[in-house]
Amino acid sequence: MPVKNILCVGAGYVGGPTMAVLADQCPDIQVKVVDLMDSKIKAWNSDNLPVFEPGLLEVVQRARGRNLFFEVITPEAIAQADMIFISVNTPTKEYGEGAGMASDLQYWESSTRTILAHARPGTIIVEKSTVPVKTAEAISRILNYNNQAKRFPVLSNPEFLAEGTAIRDLENPDRLLIGHELNPEGESAAKTLVDIYARWVPRDKLLVTNVWSSELSKLSANAFLAQRVSSINAMSAICEKTDADVGEISRAIGMDNRIGSRFLEAGVGFGGSCFRKDILNMVYICRSLGLDEVAHYWQQVVELNDYQTHRFFRQMVSTMFNTVAAKKIAMFGFAFKPDTNDTRDTPALKVALKLLEEKAHLVITDPKALGHAQQDMEGFPGVSFEPDPYQAAHNAHAIALMTHWKEYRELDWEKIYHSMLKPATVFDGRNWLNHKALFEIGFNVVPIGKKALLHY
Ligand code: NAD
Ligand code: UGA
Repeated sequence: MPVKNILCVGAGYVGGPTMAVLADQCPDIQVKVVDLMDSKIKAWNSDNLPVFEPGLLEVVQRARGRNLFFEVITPEAIAQADMIFISVNTPTKEYGEGAGMASDLQYWESSTRTILAHARPGTIIVEKSTVPVKTAEAISRILNYNNQAKRFPVLSNPEFLAEGTAIRDLENPDRLLIGHELNPEGESAAKTLVDIYARWVPRDKLLVTNVWSSELSKLSANAFLAQRVSSINAMSAICEKTDADVGEISRAIGMDNRIGSRFLEAGVGFGGSCFRKDILNMVYICRSLGLDEVAHYWQQVVELNDYQTHRFFRQMVSTMFNTVAAKKIAMFGFAFKPDTNDTRDTPALKVALKLLEEKAHLVITDPKALGHAQQDMEGFPGVSFEPDPYQAAHNAHAIALMTHWKEYRELDWEKIYHSMLKPATVFDGRNWLNHKALFEIGFNVVPIGKKALLHY
């Protein structure tokens, strides 16, 4: 049966952009994105979208009101759908068994039960959220428990988009993964989803697997990417002790085709809503399976990341004569990466909290994430927020660059230098600025994995 109505439960960073692109590419399919949060739905229906992504507004504007609709979840919307994507949040569990490690599946399970109550038999359920391996089997058990009359095929279709490049990733993905249950209904459901994606994605990029491989591939991909970042960050620590340059190391090893050049940028540590969460979840799964050595291996990726962020903070304090108390420090960037307003698990928050503990005065600036930064820092004294980076740096002792926004390269650094207290130091947590030029202006420059340029 051709799919005419698609529903997506969860209007977040994944649900919104994913469905906007699907609606844009398939104008004959009605796509509804639903959420529990009225305020989020209102924002999706305005031009002030809850998610900042380059190109997203244009895609939404093309399809919204035509075949793309954002609504608060209702039984009718569920009953209408031929295919339902579940794209709710699956954060790290903060309570009970597995706290701090396992995925919290409460939102996922409650959305599954709502679907069960209202969906028509035969509706294809697509697991889009990142979930522990074997979750589709659990969805299927809930949906198909003791109810032969109302059966639902369940697919796993994990999302690989990265924030900041979501639209490009969705329009032109490296691959799409569709995992199905090993029965005729599962195969037929997978074919239906493949046919939808094949309208804009070449068929050789549509990988059909069993449902468990699909779920585990998603966790693996994030673990491998994060592992590369931790590996290069580990090298950066060695570089700082040996006068080697981590940028030169990245270039040298990245030119080996077997290694490849991407995800080799040393920095203050990876952030974002998923790397830490997905690795910790995998560690938890490994421990549950009795694979302690494997768990330990992946756990190190996260521990190295925490070490890297802490190392950056310690370097700041030691360079500033071992005290930052009462010193004004401007934090340039709070988003976990550029081109997003997302601050989930951002290293900037960790560094900010440590600096506040040391009684520094912080001024945070960010082109898109200042609203989220304010929420994250609510209740902490000694911090203020400033959209203008020039104002943020005025009378500051130091600048900590946490997010490599393009605009920071284009600033008048001479002007910034003259407005700051001396010695003025730039801690470049992303190796993003022209260090030589800054040094010549008069700044002390402390990068990651490279020799610091100090005037004393
Ligand atoms: P998000 O928090 O931005 O969005 C999730 C939305 O689901 C929220 O708006 C929430 O209100 C809604 N929701 C929760 N329970 C609901 C329910 N019962 N009914 C209706 N709505 C409900 O999360 P996200 O970043 O979009 O991530 C969603 C999933 O996708 C996660 O599993 C995540 O691991 C995965 N993922 C995220 C990214 C990313 O870049 N953010 C990329 C790939 C995969
Ligand atoms: C990541 C993956 O890249 C996506 O494929 C995946 O879908 C997504 O997680 C998810 O599951 O949520 P995302 O977190 O949005 O995407 O962004 P990345 O580009 O992967 O960057 C993650 C973090 O690593 C950022 O803080 C970034 O600054 C850091 N990073 C990345 C480095 O420090 N160095 C690098 O070389 C690359």
